[in-house]
Amino acid sequence: MQISQTPSLTLHDYHPRAADMREEILSGLHATQKILPCKYFYDMRGSQLFDAICEQPEYYLTRIELGIMEARVADMAAALGPRILLVEPGSGSSLKTRLLLDHLHQPRAYVPVDISREHLVAAADHLNRLYPELEVLPVCADFSQPFALPPPRRAAVRTVIYFPGSTIGNFEPAAAIRLLKQLRRLAGPEGGLLIGVDLRKDRNVLERAYNDQTGVTAAFNLNLLRRLNRELQSDFDLSRFRHLAVYNEAEGRIEMHLVSLDNQSVRIAGESFCFREDECIVTEYSYKHTLSGFAALAAKAGFAVKQVWTDDRRWFSVQYLIPN
Ligand code: AVJ
Repeated sequence: MQISQTPSLTLHDYHPRAADMREEILSGLHATQKILPCKYFYDMRGSQLFDAICEQPEYYLTRIELGIMEARVADMAAALGPRILLVEPGSGSSLKTRLLLDHLHQPRAYVPVDISREHLVAAADHLNRLYPELEVLPVCADFSQPFALPPPRRAAVRTVIYFPGSTIGNFEPAAAIRLLKQLRRLAGPEGGLLIGVDLRKDRNVLERAYNDQTGVTAAFNLNLLRRLNRELQSDFDLSRFRHLAVYNEAEGRIEMHLVSLDNQSVRIAGESFCFREDECIVTEYSYKHTLSGFAALAAKAGFAVKQVWTDDRRWFSVQYLIPN
């Protein structure tokens, strides 16, 4: 870990390795069921496309979560308590974070954690200007790997992790438990976790959310191949793959795929891969939980559900978890 200091910002840098991407992509494509990890969606263009997804009428998640936050943020701030250290893994300086910061009682510091150094520093600078009183301590790290929290100037009463957006939905149950365990360790015995969790609902609503009319989600999915072409010198022909998103009811998850339109072979980082006509590459799982199912998952990671806020259709939830 390295600490770099400028007059306006102190960055704690764990140097997440760019080289890991190549190995992870290749091993995913060597598997019988080919898979490309969804965390690689978010290059510059992918992040812009994701922002555009959030504005599609079919994509209810962002709108409903923000609605719950707007209606209940005073309650949430009271539950989290005064003088906390707020940590956000995979931060983005979003509207939701600012809403929370605006209502917290004398927060001691805000620690955004992100794998992308540029995004992180830009967001931290922006927050410093918006909240001159707040200590902002950015950490550049892969939040699924262990890292230490920078100490705030003034000691905090507790550490609260903020993990909105139903990002937890991208993790299969065993991996979700591992991640929650790690967040629990980070929060400490007196800490807490404020987390956004998408809920099970009618399959048509779910499938529409991942197959928007305008085709933004399809462009987002295909952009992964464009990124690989640029960063791993592969030669995917984007016009020979199509977007597919279906709800797997038994598993309770949306499954996003890229489907090969014909038999083809693609070169990636010096290796050659064959794709059959109609062969699917898994690009993302997005789990939808029940309240009881998520409570059971959280319990396996050492968390108890202290409070749950939902919308009146119960499409989305924001939950406050504490060590059990
Ligand atoms: C940011 C992971 C919550 O699963 O809904 C949106 C990403 N993928 N449309 C989700 C996503 C396709 C999103 N998460």
